[in-house]
Amino acid sequence: MKPLHIDEEVTIRTDEDARRAPETENDAAYISEKSGITHVPLERWQKAQKAERNHWMVRGRHVANDRNDQHMAMFDGYAAPRGRRFTHALELSCGPFTNLSLIGQLCQIESVSLLDLLIESYLSHKFCNYTRERLYTRRGGLDAWLRPVLGRVWPAAYRFLARELFPSHNMSVRQLLALPIEQMPEIEPAADLLVIINVIEHCYDIQAVFRNILAALDRGGLLVFHDRYYDHEQVSQTVLSQYDAAHPLKVDRCVLDGFLQTHFDPIYQRIVPERFTLEGVDFSFDTLYYIGYKR
Ligand SMILES: C[S@@+](CC[C@H](N)C(=O)[O-])C[C@H]1O[C@@H](n2cnc3c(N)ncnc32)[C@H](O)[C@@H]1O
Repeated sequence: MKPLHIDEEVTIRTDEDARRAPETENDAAYISEKSGITHVPLERWQKAQKAERNHWMVRGRHVANDRNDQHMAMFDGYAAPRGRRFTHALELSCGPFTNLSLIGQLCQIESVSLLDLLIESYLSHKFCNYTRERLYTRRGGLDAWLRPVLGRVWPAAYRFLARELFPSHNMSVRQLLALPIEQMPEIEPAADLLVIINVIEHCYDIQAVFRNILAALDRGGLLVFHDRYYDHEQVSQTVLSQYDAAHPLKVDRCVLDGFLQTHFDPIYQRIVPERFTLEGVDFSFDTLYYIGYKR
């Protein structure tokens, strides 16, 4: 297998240094017996958070989207929640852009809570879609040119104009939580919509994440879930030659299936094989798109 090493500065190496890197830095010690990597020590996860901050606040400071449109397309345009009314939506590890900013265009959401460990930093990202008070939905029409042009050269003016021109397209923010999901306190009131997209592999303890999803979501509430759908055997092989600081967890699909089947009734499920290469290294994987009601 070709070597690959991505460090906390998000520097990608596939050369001789990358070949030697696993001798000093690899995730092989965290492989479980059959479930991939389901938890790592906090020191390992802190490297991932450093990479994540570099990714969005340094390298990605001009980026306006984290494949959120692609996820929307894979969720069939969020047909499942479309037209519905929610009292309290919660997005876990929302990033600067959020997926609720897309879902909120299609349904009525009275209030939202947003959680991300880096949320205080993201508030200063020039394409952040929320403030402490409001979450803004993505806007079409005028915004399609306003955002890339004015947003780039004069972000403060862009934000002001966008909010003034589209005042009704926003949701009230109940709370911003700058915490790991694993340490989330009780959410009041419980959410009737919980969104967690492209998150698990960034965390440090899958069982704590599962527990807190169940605690935060009301019975009958809707879960919108997406993540990589790993295979234990493949993970066991790749960790020997490949290291990616930003992605400490690599949870086998049977763990995700067990959680979802035990606690949710599915209304949408799709497995998407994503095939691509990074610096000539095959980096293909399957991903799961899932929407279900909590039992
Ligand atoms: C790839 S981004 C995805 C952001 C967002 N879900 C989206 O789709 O646009 C992953 C996010 O997870 C956050 N994160 C990583 N580990 C976390 C944890 N244990 N608890 C909460 N957030 C975490 C990072 O700060 C980052 O913003």
